[in-house]
Amino acid sequence: MLKVVNLKRQFKSGDTIVTAVDGVSMTVPDGQFVSIIGKSGSGKTSLLSLLGALDRPSSGKIIVDGQDITAINDVQLNDYRARTIGFVFQNYNLVPNLNAIENVMLPMEFIGLPKSDRLKRAKLLLEEVGLSDDQAKRKPGRLSGGQQQRVAIARALANKPKYILADEPTGNLDSETGRLIFRLLHDLSKKEKTTIITVTHDLEIAGKTDRSFKLVDGRITDK
Ligand SMILES: Nc1ncnc2c1ncn2[C@@H]1O[C@H](COP(=O)(O)OP(=O)(O)O)[C@@H](O)[C@H]1O
Ligand SMILES: [Mg+2]
Repeated sequence: MLKVVNLKRQFKSGDTIVTAVDGVSMTVPDGQFVSIIGKSGSGKTSLLSLLGALDRPSSGKIIVDGQDITAINDVQLNDYRARTIGFVFQNYNLVPNLNAIENVMLPMEFIGLPKSDRLKRAKLLLEEVGLSDDQAKRKPGRLSGGQQQRVAIARALANKPKYILADEPTGNLDSETGRLIFRLLHDLSKKEKTTIITVTHDLEIAGKTDRSFKLVDGRITDK
């Protein structure tokens, strides 16, 4: 279970202080598919970065299965991130000079999986997200946006993470492809029992998740 307690993140911008995340508290049970909605600048990316340990809060706690990850050192935090979190971004963030298989193999290198196992699992995951053998051998530049996002989802799943954090994963896709990508995330969350927290602008999609949180000026409001 993920428990967030009174989380704050402030940024200094010249002379002023911007409070991007302003006292967020939330609980996400394991296996849920959760959405975060809110206007541009409401703090969605900042909150997701804190949950994914890409950034540290100014104050507050993030408790994952009883452990406060805001209290651990950088080395432990890197390890936590690599093993526990899979990220999916709006711009896919694939490595351009690696093909799809090599992109998916990359995170498994970090946890020291032998190459033959990495290759086997990467191929399996790409098949699972719906890429053909031919597409799996292509570099990102020769794949469509939807296909690149499928590769990114396969990569996010590589180390069997407990959480997938997705920041507007369908933001660059047409609505039909976006729906297919969300269906894929949804099915994976149920099949692999992965907890998914996704930021989205699409209220129809948000309405279909197990729980939706709305951010206004860095705070969670009841809709
Ligand atoms: N690294 C940063 N430095 C300064 N201000 C930031 C930084 N990151 C975000 N902010 C500010 O925090 C607020 C929330 O931003 P963000 O989390 O990106 O919102 P959203 O993802 O909902 O659009 C905005 O006012 C933004 O300008
Ligand atoms: Mg954002």
